[in-house]
Amino acid sequence: MKTILITGGAGYIGSHACVEFLNAGYDIVVLDNLCNSSPKSLERVRELTGLDFPFIQDDIRDRAALDALFRDHDIDAVIHFAGLKAVGESVEKPLLYYDNNIAGSVTLFEAMQAAGVRTIVFSSSATVYGDPASVPIREDFPVGGTTNPYGTSKLFIEKILQDVAIADPAWSIALLRYFNPVGAHKSGRIGEDPRGIPNNLMPYISQVAVGRREYLSVFGNDYPTPDGTGVRDYIHVVDLAQGHVKAVEKLAEGPGVRVWNLGTGRGYSVVEMAKAFEQASGRPVPYRFAPRRAGDIAQCWADPAKAERELGWKARRGLEEMCEDTWRWQSLNPNGYEP
Ligand code: NAD
Ligand code: WQD
Repeated sequence: MKTILITGGAGYIGSHACVEFLNAGYDIVVLDNLCNSSPKSLERVRELTGLDFPFIQDDIRDRAALDALFRDHDIDAVIHFAGLKAVGESVEKPLLYYDNNIAGSVTLFEAMQAAGVRTIVFSSSATVYGDPASVPIREDFPVGGTTNPYGTSKLFIEKILQDVAIADPAWSIALLRYFNPVGAHKSGRIGEDPRGIPNNLMPYISQVAVGRREYLSVFGNDYPTPDGTGVRDYIHVVDLAQGHVKAVEKLAEGPGVRVWNLGTGRGYSVVEMAKAFEQASGRPVPYRFAPRRAGDIAQCWADPAKAERELGWKARRGLEEMCEDTWRWQSLNPNGYEP
């Protein structure tokens, strides 16, 4: 494996993965239509690594563009981050999500097949487990019961890739089920830059701390958890990005479909997150309890033992570092990549 195509490489997780692949000695090619990202993230990836790489601004649904890309570049493996990810928006615009995420992925897989590229790492999500019967969640737990089109799109793409491997056993496929990615590169130069009001907890908290929003609404304080607020497995985005490098190394060993959870194995509540962020930032994070958010589950955390056993990968960065690194990014870039 030498040259890696990174779809969605300008995005939050993708930009951190670009840094980790470049630092590990790979060549990369980035494809992104910039529908939810800024090209500045890629400029900063170049600045952080001192390395250059081609960027193609195009859509994964554009088959001709994909064919040209595979013709012009000798790609060995694809890391597939490109997709829309806003849960609420997916409920309002299901066809947009199914077209972008599912039809886009099918077009990408067709172009890969035509080009003879059969190694892929797919960004899946813990959301495919639905509301798990117990925690921690292992990879052999049943999938399904997704509560929104975003989650369903991840479930379907996993299934499509499994069917592709049945039809052509030469494919090497990793389905990486991420838990809750947070944090930013240590430099504070790249990080999560959501457009509009953040849907996710960590960017919302950091915008409260920096003074862009007044207070955090805590969605539900009557869950069956120690403090009544939702519990999640937050994982540092750099740990997550490094898991992709390990997955590509593992896929080089041979064909098949492998599934790995990428999480830390421990959960924190919403209130614990707000308090940890106050500590790390030295800024107040006022919060108010609000009703539960539709579709949320009480608790969700990973059993990451399979990834440690098979990939030799383990999340190393703890909650304090997640908050400190988020804060460095947020305070150095109060408006994200906008000036
Ligand atoms: P992001 O929105 O920051 O990055 C996704 C990137 O894909 C963006 O740069 C966007 O412009 C690009 N993109 C979207 N549709 C495209 C298309 N049709 N053609 C080309 N480019 C397109 O999101 P992220 O948080 O970095 O997530 C990356 C991947 O990981 C997504 O597939 C997401 O569903 C998945 N994931 C994210 C989380 C999370 O909490 N952030 C959790 C689990 C899984
Ligand atoms: C975390 C906790 C909220 C915001 C979502 C997707 C999932 C995955 C990651 C996406 C929950 C609470 C949040 C706020 C709050 N993939 N919360 N106030 O819901 O675990 O997962 O993002 O690409 O598919 O569903 O993450 O960060 O939205 O919420 O109280 O303003 O914080 O209720 O308990 P979630 P989240």
